[in-house]
Amino acid sequence: MNILIINGPNLNFLGIREPEIYGYQTYADLIKYLKKLSRNYKIKVKTYQSNHEGDIIDYIQNKYQKFDAIIINPGALTHYSYALLDCIKSISVPTIEVHLSDLSKRESFRQNSVIAEACVASIMGKHFESYHDAIKFIVRGLKHE
Ligand code: DQA
Repeated sequence: MNILIINGPNLNFLGIREPEIYGYQTYADLIKYLKKLSRNYKIKVKTYQSNHEGDIIDYIQNKYQKFDAIIINPGALTHYSYALLDCIKSISVPTIEVHLSDLSKRESFRQNSVIAEACVASIMGKHFESYHDAIKFIVRGLKHE
């Protein structure tokens, strides 16, 4: 099992950006957490972060065939990137959308995800645990508990 985990704009600023929303743990802490999960579940995890929409799309287009599933936290791209929606639609790899915060309880512009229709699941509001739930969902064969 080989999973690609992508983080979009500003997620490299975890711990610095709005800690009251996103927490005090850093992006390096998130990577450590994901590596630990990969050992626990005996899966391979590759992580990629970019602040640039086109770089994320290039990365997915160049690497998607190497992965069984993709977990993506697109940051603010979630709310407006039809290019990312088209990219996810164009590959046959099951993709799970994750968010640290609960978008349903935030500003109205955050309540719409334009990529959700291309994703097999959307998991949010559990901080780092959102990624854990996405990994559990994948290793269970894309089934919710
Ligand atoms: C986020 C939510 C987005 O609205 C925001 O732009 C982010 C992070 C989250 O993980 O809660 O950058 O995706």
